[in-house]
Amino acid sequence: MAILPILRFGNPILRQKSKRVSSIDGTIQELIDDMIETMRDASGAGLAAPQIGKPLRVIVIGLPGEEPFALINPQIVKKSGERDVVEGCLCLPGYRGEMKRAVSVTAKGRDRHGKEVRVKAEKLLAQTLEHEIDHLNGVLYIDHLQGEDSLYKLHQGDPP
Ligand code: NI
Repeated sequence: MAILPILRFGNPILRQKSKRVSSIDGTIQELIDDMIETMRDASGAGLAAPQIGKPLRVIVIGLPGEEPFALINPQIVKKSGERDVVEGCLCLPGYRGEMKRAVSVTAKGRDRHGKEVRVKAEKLLAQTLEHEIDHLNGVLYIDHLQGEDSLYKLHQGDPP
């Protein structure tokens, strides 16, 4: 396992559409392990493979206090509701943005063993799924901001 460097906003890989994974093998499982370690090291709630320079459709999610999991070739199949959220991204440290996200999201994909899974999510988990799946399409949270004032810089002493 290894902690990998996270690309910063401005790197063109972050704007690419990532490729589908055709076979879930040891290389992909190793990538998932590295992504989970990298996400934990950076205290993130999720990480998408393009963020570490691999434009593949793989995401990992690890909400505080919960077991991290991976989703390969994830797709949102249902979403409903709307709520105001504050969001950040490991590619743009020190900033937060205000936007709307769905209240609930159902996503499908494959787990690290290649098994088809469906994840029904609400609130923070739904938001994280939308955020990470956006990364696979070259979309960043700043694309969802409602106005210029919706992005702000964190100050020393603010909660992370
Ligand atoms: Ni992000």
